[in-house]
Amino acid sequence: MKNPLKIENAEGKLGVMLVGLGAVSTTTIAGVIAVRRGLAKPIGSLTQMGTIRLGKRTEGRSPAIHDFVPLASLDDVAFGGWDIFDENCYEAAKTAGVLDAALLDKIKPELEEIRPWPAVFDRKYVKRLDGPNVKKGKNKRELAEQVREDIRRFKKERGLNRLVLIWCGSTEIYMTETPAHASIDAFEKALETNDDAIPSSMVYAYAALKEGIPYANAAPNLSADIPALLQLAQQHGSPVAGKDLKTGQTLIKTIIAPGLKSRLIGVEGWYSTNILGNRDGEVLDDPESFKTKEESKKSVLDYILQPNLYPDLYEKLCHVVRINYYPPRGDNKEGWDNIDIFGWLGYPMQLKINFLCRDSILAAPIVLDVALFLDLAKRTGMSGIQEWLSFYFKSPMHAPGLYPEHDLFIQLMKLKNTLRYMRGEELITHLGLEYYD
Ligand SMILES: NC(=O)c1ccc[n+]([C@@H]2O[C@H](COP(=O)([O-])OP(=O)(O)OC[C@H]3O[C@@H](n4cnc5c(N)ncnc54)[C@H](O)[C@@H]3O)[C@@H](O)[C@H]2O)c1
Repeated sequence: MKNPLKIENAEGKLGVMLVGLGAVSTTTIAGVIAVRRGLAKPIGSLTQMGTIRLGKRTEGRSPAIHDFVPLASLDDVAFGGWDIFDENCYEAAKTAGVLDAALLDKIKPELEEIRPWPAVFDRKYVKRLDGPNVKKGKNKRELAEQVREDIRRFKKERGLNRLVLIWCGSTEIYMTETPAHASIDAFEKALETNDDAIPSSMVYAYAALKEGIPYANAAPNLSADIPALLQLAQQHGSPVAGKDLKTGQTLIKTIIAPGLKSRLIGVEGWYSTNILGNRDGEVLDDPESFKTKEESKKSVLDYILQPNLYPDLYEKLCHVVRINYYPPRGDNKEGWDNIDIFGWLGYPMQLKINFLCRDSILAAPIVLDVALFLDLAKRTGMSGIQEWLSFYFKSPMHAPGLYPEHDLFIQLMKLKNTLRYMRGEELITHLGLEYYD
C-alpha cells in the first residue's frame, strides 16, 4: 500500500478557540504553555508522546506520531475563547482550582493575556449558571454572526493561518432532534425565529462550520450532532468530532468491559457512582443537564457488551450511573464502581473499583489531541464526522445506521490505522501469520 493522501503542511500558527474558559479549558491552556516552557511533560497526549508501529514487527519502525504526520507544533498554537464570566485565563484557572498556584504564577503573564470574549448564552439551556459577559442580539442568527466576527478578528489580530473551535462549555439540558435540525434551511430559519430547539452550543457550532473551521464537542449536549450542521460541515469542508470527553469513570469502564467480554465473563450489574465538587458538578446537579450526561454515560456498556449477541451473559445487566455534587472535592472526583460478574457455571464474583481521579487532568490532553488531529484532518481534506477520533469520546459521533464503537482498544486501532492510511502505510491487522510461513 503506497498511496499517501495529500496533506498540507502545518505551516504558520494554529488558533485553538475554546467555548467556556472553565476547568478543562484553563487546564489545557496552562498545560500547553507549561509544556512549551519545559516546566512539565504532556502526559496523556497521544500527539505529544505516542508512537505508531509501521510495517512488520521485525522492522523495528515505531516513530513518534508527531514525526509521522504533520501536526501543528505547540509553539505555533494560540488560544482564545468565550465565557459568560469575564475573568482572564489566569483568574479562571485559579477559580477552577485544578493546577497549583506555583505553576500558574510562573506562566501568569501569558495566561492573563487571554480574556474571554462575550458569550452566546441563555439560562434556558444551563439552569445553574448565570454571568455578565454575554452578547446581545435581536435573534440567534445575529448572535452567530457576532461569533463569526470574533473568529475573524482573532485570526487577523494574531496572524493565524488555521483555526479549530471546541465546545468546552457547561453541559446543556437534554434535547432531541426536531424538524428545526433537519436541514440547513430549516436551521437558518430557526436561528432567525429564535427557536428554542437551538441552544447556545449550536450557535457556536454553526458559526464555526460556516467559517469552514473544524468543530468538536467536549460535552454530551447535542450541539453539532444534527443533520443540518453535519450537512453544513460537508458543504464547508469542516471536520467534526464529539461528543463528551472520555475521561474518569467511563474511560475505566471502556477499558474493563471489553476485557470481561473478551473472556465471556457475564455481567449482572454495574453500579457507578461519583462525587465531584467543581462547577461542572454544580451544573450536573440540575436534573435536565444530568439527563444529558446520564444518557451519554449509560450507552457505553450496551454497545460494548452486545447483549443481543450474548443474551446469556449480558441481557439482564442492571446499569446505574449516579453523580453527586459534593463541593469539598473540587475537581478531584472520586468514583466507585461495583461490578457483579459471573463465570463458569454461573458462579458469582465481584469487582470493586475506586478511582480517585482528576477530571481536568485527564481531559486536557484530549482537548489538545482533538484540536491537533482535527487540524490535521482539515489539511488532509477530510470533512464531516471523524469517526477515527471516537477514541476520545464517551458518545462517539457516527454515521446514521451505524452503531458507535466504544471499545477503547478498537478505537485506538482505528485511530492509528487512519494515520497509516493517510501516509500510505500498510494497515495493521494483527494477523501475524506471515511470521510463521
Ligand atoms: N473534565 C472532564 O473530565 C470532562 C469529561 C467529559 C466532559 N466534560 C464536559 O466538558 C465541559 C467543561 O467541563 P469543565 O469541568 O471545564 O466545566 P466548568 O464548569 O469548569 O467550565 C465550563 C465553562 O463554560 C462556561 N459556559 C457555559 N455556557 C457557556 C456559553 N454558552 N458560552 C461560553 N461559556 C459558557 C461556564 O461559565 C464555565 O466557565 C462540561 O460540559 C463537562 O461536562 C468534562
